[in-house]
Amino acid sequence: MNTQSTPKPERIIIFDTTLRDGEQSPGATLNVDEKLTIARQLARLGVDVIEAGFPYASPGDFEAVSRIAEQVGTPDGPIICGLARATLQDIKAAADALRAAAKPRIHTFIASSDIHLQYKLKKTRQEVLAIAPEMVAYAKSFVEDVEFSPEDAGRSDPEFLYELLTVAIEAGATTVNIPDTVGYLTPSEFGALIKGIKENVPNIDKAIISVHGHNDLGMAVANFLEAVKNGARQLECTINGIGERAGNAALEELVMALHVRRSYFNPFLGRPADSEDPLTNIDTRQIYKTSRMVSNLTGMLVQPNKAIVGANAFAHESGIHQDGVLKHKLTYEIMDAQSIGLTDNQIVLGKHSGRNAFRSRLRELGFELTEQELNKAFLRFKELGDKKKEITDWDLEAIVNDEIQQTPELFHLEHVQVSCGDHARPTATVIVRTPDGQELMDAAIGTGPVDAVYKAINRVVNIPNQLIEFSVQSVTAGIDAIGEVTIRLQHEGRIFSGHAANTDIVVASAHAYMNALNRLYAVLQVGKSLHPQHDTEAVVR
Ligand code: KIV
Ligand code: ZN
Repeated sequence: MNTQSTPKPERIIIFDTTLRDGEQSPGATLNVDEKLTIARQLARLGVDVIEAGFPYASPGDFEAVSRIAEQVGTPDGPIICGLARATLQDIKAAADALRAAAKPRIHTFIASSDIHLQYKLKKTRQEVLAIAPEMVAYAKSFVEDVEFSPEDAGRSDPEFLYELLTVAIEAGATTVNIPDTVGYLTPSEFGALIKGIKENVPNIDKAIISVHGHNDLGMAVANFLEAVKNGARQLECTINGIGERAGNAALEELVMALHVRRSYFNPFLGRPADSEDPLTNIDTRQIYKTSRMVSNLTGMLVQPNKAIVGANAFAHESGIHQDGVLKHKLTYEIMDAQSIGLTDNQIVLGKHSGRNAFRSRLRELGFELTEQELNKAFLRFKELGDKKKEITDWDLEAIVNDEIQQTPELFHLEHVQVSCGDHARPTATVIVRTPDGQELMDAAIGTGPVDAVYKAINRVVNIPNQLIEFSVQSVTAGIDAIGEVTIRLQHEGRIFSGHAANTDIVVASAHAYMNALNRLYAVLQVGKSLHPQHDTEAVVR
């Protein structure tokens, strides 16, 4: 039984769910190494909690959570959290996966809206009122830190919600999270919901109120800020706002709103309006880098006009604005590009830089590579040095993200060659090493060079799919810039993304395609992961 009051934080707790809810975005599947790379960066960013995954989903998800728990969940690192439906087998899997974390948290949830109870869970309110505390207590038998969520709280009967939260806290939940699962509420309704919880849940002082919300109507961030004003102290968010359907509340937008408008929010946390103390623990200068990493590794592109991290967010295109900005920055800028780390793209290395300089710059950028990865990345760096005079931090990040992504490779593109021109028929020849080690060569004619390459690869790999998205972006300005290609393809209704970087965009296109095909092939080999919210047939209580 929970009798102690939970100390109230003096600032807002940032709970990042990029690796769990974010990874539930169609096509955003990450492999274990990619998840670890992102988790390390989230720790550098300063998030308080990393929701590392849903361990019961599959052996791969379990492994990712346990490796993050072991390598990122150090005593001075963030809390590592695992998601579990309110079932014995999910909670046990989460507890096992989190064993190595210094500060483990189990996050268990069960639906609370009548619509979910009737059509998804097929349970009564009474049954849910019995299951929730039983499962919170079970989670508590493994870890001290237990979070409970009534799924679809936003559409639940508030009176029932109060009762459910009361029994969950009574059973030991130290955080109660209020999800607007379908992104339905407006800011004033969300604020009122949090206020109602504070006023009507008798033991609410023993738990921290958290919020979780989706962006179906574009109101998730505004809803959270209203929730903060009414007593929420933990925000569940994702980098670039990725997540189910229209995504989750975006971490960078929440953090920068609290940062830039600190004097407005300070009084709601009981501070003087002019207090300079940060409202979150986030190192805002790591925001841009984290955004690029998540976009590259998940294949979820950031729209140019996206707040804070979009390519246009700090670009003053129009003449009037430029004139104003030159006269005084504050005429049209409410924050500095530097504050999110956007201007940290230094020219660091050149063609003659050695392995040690390369390794130490990567360390400074936060990449921990194995010897093998370092060797591969160094070779790529030398190749790039022959083509590009000045190599910047962003070029290094592009190379390293590319290398991390290519492991583990199942099909490997050994060679690609294309001939094309205004009077030639675009023709590609590829050599692909298959997972069983054979080297197969094939060729195809296409409508353009990329189409020819994709057709030639398809003849070898032979997994039916449809290309649904293709995009090229340059990493830096200049004719010698690295091009980053991101693609999405579809196979039997599921989406897979691929990403690659190269100064030759046809080569980058070929590797991006192989990358997506490898993700698809891996799923075909191991089977798909369970979805925590949609898959109920696998539940054994
Ligand atoms: O959106 C949601 O309700 C969730 C829960 C599992 C917290 O993601
Ligand atoms: Zn969610």
